[in-house]
Amino acid sequence: MRLTFFGIGYVGLVQAAVFAEAGYQVMCVDIDPQKIENLKAGKIPIYEPGLESLVRENVASDNLLFTTDAQEGVRFSPLQFIAVGTPPDEDGSADLRHVLTVARTIARYMEQPKTIVIKSTVPVGTADKVRAAVDEGLKERDRIDLAFDVASNPEFLKEGSAVADCMKPDRIIIGTDNPGTEQQLRELYAPFNRNHEKIIAMDIRSSELTKYAANCMLATKISFMNEMANLADRFGADIERVRVGIGADPRIGYHFIYPGVGYGGSCFPKDVRATIRTAEADGFDPVLLKAVEARNELQKGFLVNKVLSHFGGDVRGRRFALWGLAFKPKTDDMRDAPSRVVMEALWQAGATVQAYDPAAMTECRRIYGDRSDLALCDTKEATLTGADALIVVTEWKQFHAPDFQAIKLALREPVIFDGRNLYDPMIAQRHGLEVRSVGRKR
Ligand code: UGA
Repeated sequence: MRLTFFGIGYVGLVQAAVFAEAGYQVMCVDIDPQKIENLKAGKIPIYEPGLESLVRENVASDNLLFTTDAQEGVRFSPLQFIAVGTPPDEDGSADLRHVLTVARTIARYMEQPKTIVIKSTVPVGTADKVRAAVDEGLKERDRIDLAFDVASNPEFLKEGSAVADCMKPDRIIIGTDNPGTEQQLRELYAPFNRNHEKIIAMDIRSSELTKYAANCMLATKISFMNEMANLADRFGADIERVRVGIGADPRIGYHFIYPGVGYGGSCFPKDVRATIRTAEADGFDPVLLKAVEARNELQKGFLVNKVLSHFGGDVRGRRFALWGLAFKPKTDDMRDAPSRVVMEALWQAGATVQAYDPAAMTECRRIYGDRSDLALCDTKEATLTGADALIVVTEWKQFHAPDFQAIKLALREPVIFDGRNLYDPMIAQRHGLEVRSVGRKR
């Protein structure tokens, strides 16, 4: 079977490579010639465990092809995936420009019937817009005889485990109002639908909303726990005990109830905002989602407030060691990362930062360039030299069991601001270190 993917970002590249691995021949189309050249040589533009070898192997076996030629991509296969980005526009709505450009491109070059599958995360109603754009394109060419269908097939992969998530999805959502299209997509996903049924077929609009609902639900769990952590902080309770206490109820569960410095990344912040904007545009006031977003924004300032209050509200001239720049472990992604809020607030307050991250150093350099108030260190230990205190923002494995003795000796003040509740305050205390966590007694 042959497939075409438009858009070789996170979702597109991972899903295309995984389909290629399953034995399909996949052509990937992107407008960025440099990216395409690199990919042909097996060089991937993102950090994602297992992805580079998967791409290399499938490029070598000719199952994964890359091109900038959209016409070649359209002609290549009956199944056309749209996996381009839907970045937020100024008001936070999803910008569908790229999605609709691909739709028009397909209409311009198609000569055979096509099934157009939307993989990008898009608001409810987008499939209708894609259908209208293709209809219009075909009318302009006087080719309304050409049949096509549009389906929704959202992606649920997580950065850092994207390849595994795609290889073994926990569910495959197929949104279509056409039994023929459903059958076509069921066959496509058959290699991923073994052992037990993972395909959930539904109408297009429900499928489109499922994607946003899933991310909004997870973001809500996190904001809820962060709110509880604030209460625990004030009331002298320990949120980690509360977490275990409530997670034991299977209706609540242990997943996604870890308090911290707020959710970041390219999905939750963007998708919660986009859902809010779509609701408002339809005249509905999504009060709950607005609160989820508001709590998250406040939460990003939580750690900085602790730092400021520890230093009597004045950190001018102080130097902070910062562990973790990526929005979560196993990625180099710093989009909407809490580390950025923490660093920018510290700079604003006149402090300097010495940072280390196992994967996101290049990305950090790209974002902030050379600045006198930021030193990017080669190791986590190097950040401690001359630092007043340590701030931990991302829960990389490398940070889980540090040498407390060495930290105590290196820091000017023996205090760790632990934004992920990684450290047991009692153990640290035995080494003479004070740990300020999220929602735990000092
Ligand atoms: C998220 C979803 O988990 C995926 O299912 C979805 O497919 C993806 O968005 C997407 O829409 O593409 P991702 O953004 O890669 O995946 O990262 P997550 O592991 O979900 O973490 C998101 C943020 O929530 C991180 O900042 C993380 O630190 C934070 N988080 C997560 C918490 O603060 N507490 C938790 O208990 C869990």
